[in-house]
Amino acid sequence: MHVLVTGGAGFIGSNFVRHLLASGEDRVINLDLLTYAGNLENLAGLENHPRYRFVRGDINDRGLLHTLFREEDIDAVIHFAAESHVDRSVDAPRDFLVTNVMGTQALLEEARQFELARFVQVSTDEVYGSLGPENKFREDSPLAPNSPYAASKAAADIFCRAYNRTYGFPVVITRCSNNYGPYQFPEKLIPLMIANALADKPLPIYGDGQNVRDWLFVSDHCTALEMVLHEGKPGEVYNIGGNNEMKNLDLVRLLLAQLGKSEDLITFVPDRPGHDRRYAIAADKIREELGWTPAHTFHEGLSSTVQWYLENRQWWEKILSGDYGQYYEKMYGKGGRHQAGDPEDSA
Ligand code: NAD
Ligand code: TYD
Repeated sequence: MHVLVTGGAGFIGSNFVRHLLASGEDRVINLDLLTYAGNLENLAGLENHPRYRFVRGDINDRGLLHTLFREEDIDAVIHFAAESHVDRSVDAPRDFLVTNVMGTQALLEEARQFELARFVQVSTDEVYGSLGPENKFREDSPLAPNSPYAASKAAADIFCRAYNRTYGFPVVITRCSNNYGPYQFPEKLIPLMIANALADKPLPIYGDGQNVRDWLFVSDHCTALEMVLHEGKPGEVYNIGGNNEMKNLDLVRLLLAQLGKSEDLITFVPDRPGHDRRYAIAADKIREELGWTPAHTFHEGLSSTVQWYLENRQWWEKILSGDYGQYYEKMYGKGGRHQAGDPEDSA
């Protein structure tokens, strides 16, 4: 197939582009705007790959989309491009509306002018909101987003559903839990904690650190997405998760142990507003219908991720010394939202 990947210069998208090319996909077109989160170094070495093309551009640019669909004879779309960081969505929600909602609708509208086998909307478990201590998210759980990021992804998902029901457009939606692995931008929990620990800087834990996330190694997400891209049933939703729940504080302790650093670096900071307490995914449907299972245990995935960040310091140090520096200052610096404080402050 000729596959259009949007957002292929980001964390999951770049892992997926590498994955698709390695598994022999006929042609992969990567459309990415290269926002702060897009980094062509994630795709280093692919520049002259005969089955790959990178195009810098915006998913809101209908003219460009039309040209690409026509020129490249696109058979399928997998849509990663998004503003993806919850903390940024608290500060600048409109960017999330423009990219995640309007951008998705622009892409849907242009794509449906062409005969496609599938359009995969890469979504998130965060659209389901927050769980108590029991239960897991299922595909038919109600959408109850709590952050502007989650709201924008839920709105995009609903547009995708409507394009399927109204126009018969072959959309498949995936909703995955938190990913980790190589090339994750160091504003997300795991790479941020690794980078800070290696620099002996405080590790900012929001609130009481008891929030639970369900972690999946990025390459296992990629195998699931490849299956959905080729075999997913149009109009359906597939949850993807590693059945691997972990409290943030426990995860950070594990990282510190792997890095040989002291737990004294842990610093409790005021909680994220609207912070979801627990996510957990029931991934029975994709297992039963498509035969997907994750290939990595959390222990293997985390060890290889830590190793990757140790061996690729240059990759993340470059990010930290650039644009990210200002962002980090805004969030954690003097006057920032997440200044270090007492755990009691955040109750
Ligand atoms: P990311 O922020 O690392 O990458 C997003 C990419 O989209 C970047 O390369 C950026 O340049 C590009 N982009 C942003 N706006 C664009 C625009 N207008 N036009 C074209 N490109 C644009 O994100 P990620 O963590 O790789 O997440 C990818 C997708 O997976 C997102 O849709 C996200 O909602 C979803 N998802 C992420 C996770 C996770 O744990 N990271 C979990 C479940 C689902
Ligand atoms: P994050 O990586 O931002 O993913 P998401 O918000 O999409 O789940 O955060 C994962 C968890 O870690 C979340 O509960 C918030 C928490 N967290 C911290 O405690 N400190 C931090 O510095 C960051 C970035 C996240």
